Amino acid sequence: MSKVFPDGTVAVDDLNLTVDNGEFLVLLGPSGCGKSTALRMIAGLEDPSAGEVLLDGEPVGNVHPADRQIAMIFQNYALYPHMTVGENIGFPLRLRKRAQNDIDAQVSQLATVLDITDTLGRKPAQLSGGQRQRVAMGRALARKPRIFLMDEPLSNLDSGLRAQLRAEISGLVRELKVTTVYVTHDQTEALTMADRIAVMRNGVLQDVGTPNEVYHHPATAYVAAFLGTPRMTLVQARVMAHLDKRVLLQIGEQSIDVPGHDVTAHMLRHYHGEDIIVGLRPEALRLPDPASQDPILHTRVKHLEHSGHESLAHLDVGATAAPIEMTEATPRPAPRTVKRGLFRRREIQAVASHPPPAAPGQERHLQRPIDLTLRLAPYPRLGPGDRISVQIDTRQLHFFGDRGERIGAGQQVRTAPRRA
Ligand SMILES: Nc1ncnc2c1ncn2[C@@H]1O[C@H](COP(=O)(O)OP(=O)(O)OP(=O)(O)O)[C@@H](O)[C@H]1O
Ligand SMILES: [Mg+2]
Repeated sequence: MSKVFPDGTVAVDDLNLTVDNGEFLVLLGPSGCGKSTALRMIAGLEDPSAGEVLLDGEPVGNVHPADRQIAMIFQNYALYPHMTVGENIGFPLRLRKRAQNDIDAQVSQLATVLDITDTLGRKPAQLSGGQRQRVAMGRALARKPRIFLMDEPLSNLDSGLRAQLRAEISGLVRELKVTTVYVTHDQTEALTMADRIAVMRNGVLQDVGTPNEVYHHPATAYVAAFLGTPRMTLVQARVMAHLDKRVLLQIGEQSIDVPGHDVTAHMLRHYHGEDIIVGLRPEALRLPDPASQDPILHTRVKHLEHSGHESLAHLDVGATAAPIEMTEATPRPAPRTVKRGLFRRREIQAVASHPPPAAPGQERHLQRPIDLTLRLAPYPRLGPGDRISVQIDTRQLHFFGDRGERIGAGQQVRTAPRRA
């Protein structure tokens, strides 16, 4: 489905996604990429401009939102302030004219599951943020939905509570086996909660897969940059393929050898003489091990970042960063007038994929330097300006072409749902 708003904004561009029964799917992407719009179309609060939503294989374009058996939880959960917690949770049941003892039994059962039994007699104003969020979940659950839609439900909470509710929510919806689409811009939330993650950028689906798949085989440079902390470093590199099957990657003034035997090196040979993007997560770097044949890069420590259990060293290797439009969500071009219902697919694609003109000082070819990040034991005896060598585990490198597409094994965009 696609959504073009009357002012020409393409919020969702040809999104094609199957969510399996009982699956917990996380829609992940930066602010403004179309997550809420996609969710609202599933709920029926927004009509698609093109395409349709199918529930259990049936188009629901003509089914009223209230009849879709969908429960939606928003970031700003609205509880009824004049009702107690118990009355809030029981409200959907009372609407359905259920018997009072039946309602009481269900409310008490839900309160036990959500661990808010003590608060049933209180008003929402007398609750903490986390408790309020759980009441909102309880009220949504009382409706016995077949689908849960959650739009950044934890973003108002502090980080400790967020981590706790993250675990509780994913445990609960799995126990209840309710199909869930969960929207967030927080990659940690996505990686820890999802059965599968769907990554969006500017309304376009970039990649779908299990957390393991999208983290280890991101389909695009953008997905690679979005997942993981610290972020993956994406550098420009020149490919030199040798006759003896070796592939040399030139990074700044230095070069590293990629062994010629695996599939990826084979594919890299096609890029001989061209610039590609190489992605390095901290996992790909280590202090040199004399027993290993892996290639070495010489670096200079720029600064250190200590976080108690580890220290991160930011290293200058003289590398140039990948072009910005490959790794960041680009601001949208000025809206074009597209008549509702009459737009053509090609027009939408053109709007969504054409990067805006670069602002002065942000030209594509501007050589932005970029650092590598090395994980070290806490408080190493190192300081800014020190020169150190790092060894590169070439099996942990990621390669991308000039449109950001993955080079090598696993470059296909995955769309088939997978059971948890
Ligand atoms: N009614 C509307 N009219 C015009 N444009 C809209 C409308 N609603 C949303 N948009 C635009 O559509 C795009 C997608 O919005 P959406 O709310 O789906 O983003 P999001 O991914 O949920 O972002 P966030 O993480 O900030 O909530 C944005 O550029 C937004 O400005
Ligand atoms: Mg939103």
